[in-house]
Amino acid sequence: MRLKGVNFPSFISYLVSIVELEKIEAKVVFECLFSPPKLENAMKTQYYTATSLDGFIADEHNSLDWLFQFGEVEGDSYGNFLREIGAIAMGSTTYEWILAHHINQDADCPQTWMYEQPTWVFSSRNLPAIAGANIRFVKGDVRQFHQEMLAVAGDKNIWLVGGGDLVGQFYDNRLLDEIIVSIASVTLGSGAALLPRAIITPPLKLLTATTYQDSFVELHYQVRYDS
Ligand SMILES: NC(=O)c1ccc[n+]([C@@H]2O[C@H](COP(=O)([O-])OP(=O)(O)OC[C@H]3O[C@@H](n4cnc5c(N)ncnc54)[C@H](OP(=O)(O)O)[C@@H]3O)[C@@H](O)[C@H]2O)c1
Repeated sequence: MRLKGVNFPSFISYLVSIVELEKIEAKVVFECLFSPPKLENAMKTQYYTATSLDGFIADEHNSLDWLFQFGEVEGDSYGNFLREIGAIAMGSTTYEWILAHHINQDADCPQTWMYEQPTWVFSSRNLPAIAGANIRFVKGDVRQFHQEMLAVAGDKNIWLVGGGDLVGQFYDNRLLDEIIVSIASVTLGSGAALLPRAIITPPLKLLTATTYQDSFVELHYQVRYDS
């Protein structure tokens, strides 16, 4: 920014430049104190998931067999993504899926909870807890729990695991920052919707698109809101 008068060595223009400099300094100090700038790497609330090409994250029987047929995908983003996560949120169907298919898959030998990060499970029902897991069971308006997650996550991100409507509740409250979705090369015809919301104007902003062999394309979007 060019200051008026700086190029004119007169006493008046000198005074004008001093006054303007002081105004700018005062403005900078005020902005730092009362509205800190949003840093590029500020913590984000991210929906990270895998979907079928036709937009379902589970089939109509809540099965993920269509996804697991691909096995480990070499070089995928999950490890790096998880390292930056400080809090996790999921709905009850997802939690019950984990209970049935991971924790209690072998009734004689229950598995441990797989996330170190504190996790918020949304449900209006009383769900079984898991020994040793850092899980809070909550219900209702996502806004107050998002505040709790931000406080706990510190300088890390929040992972919204799903399902789609729970993520939609965060979107409805302008709390969803990014969507990172891996599209598997299958269609399911029906099932649990990826994100049952209309996001049209402003559209999502595509940040990156990455292909993984002949099985997946990962799309990373920034969510934008009306001003
Ligand atoms: N492809 C993937 O990578 C991926 C990722 C995540 C999940 N999934 C699968 O996708 C499916 C998702 O299931 P879903 O669509 O039913 O979603 P979900 O979010 O897992 O579960 C929805 C349920 O959560 C509870 N809930 C949601 N918001 C709530 C709120 N604000 N307060 C209280 N309770 C709330 C409600 O059940 P109640 O109140 O009755 O408990 C609601 O019916 C699951 O099968 C899951 O395993 C797949």
